[in-house]
Amino acid sequence: MGEFKPDWLALREAADVPARSSRLTRAIADRFPEDAELHVLDIATGTGANVRYLAEQLPPRQSWLLVDQDPVLLAELPMRMRSWGVPRGLEIAGEGDELLVTGARLTCRLVRFRRDLALDIEGGDGDIFAGRRLVTASALLDLVSERWLRAFASRCRHSCAAVLFALTIVLSIAIQAIGAFCFPSSWNLRPVNVDTHHERLWDWRDSELVRCLIEGRKPW
Ligand SMILES: C[S@@+](CC[C@H](N)C(=O)[O-])C[C@H]1O[C@@H](n2cnc3c(N)ncnc32)[C@H](O)[C@@H]1O
Repeated sequence: MGEFKPDWLALREAADVPARSSRLTRAIADRFPEDAELHVLDIATGTGANVRYLAEQLPPRQSWLLVDQDPVLLAELPMRMRSWGVPRGLEIAGEGDELLVTGARLTCRLVRFRRDLALDIEGGDGDIFAGRRLVTASALLDLVSERWLRAFASRCRHSCAAVLFALTIVLSIAIQAIGAFCFPSSWNLRPVNVDTHHERLWDWRDSELVRCLIEGRKPW
């Protein structure tokens, strides 16, 4: 089992949706013609949260390459696609590493691909960027080094692919910095294992921001 557990990703998936920019998503979707198949690369795909958020907002014919290093998360992806797609009236069929998602207005081919992107962005047994018009990622930027990101951006530029990264981390860094330096509070001072204390993951009734504001600014 890797660092990220499927259940933890499922918990944050619902919370991530309102934090995403629908305006930015629309701006990206509008770049591509409606009548051509869109080839997308999703890196660090986990169980496929990005596909589930984007598929119905992009042009209707899509082909996705879903890359992650964790075989457990990739194995979980078909089940997560089914529990997302079936209630929407989509058909999910699959064999091996491929899945086909079809509906009245969607034909989406998904291919899962295991690769350690820290060791190898593009080499190995195939260029993951080849023919991709859009490169996406979510909940990844806080895990990578500046060096890796520069190499990755350069590879995207080389492929002329548009890039859509869910950048909620930028806002998060700003809030954390203000909180740490100006508003140190009693919120979650005692560390616990969040895998077994889910209430510590997303509890809107007791967020760090609100607690800091209530306890007030402190000298440090
Ligand atoms: C926070 S999760 C985000 C997963 C998914 N994008 C989402 O939004 O739910 C980070 C993902 O990065 C993947 N990852 C971390 N290091 C990686 C690496 N070196 N190569 C490929 N994937 C990696 C993990 O396996 C995990 O699926």
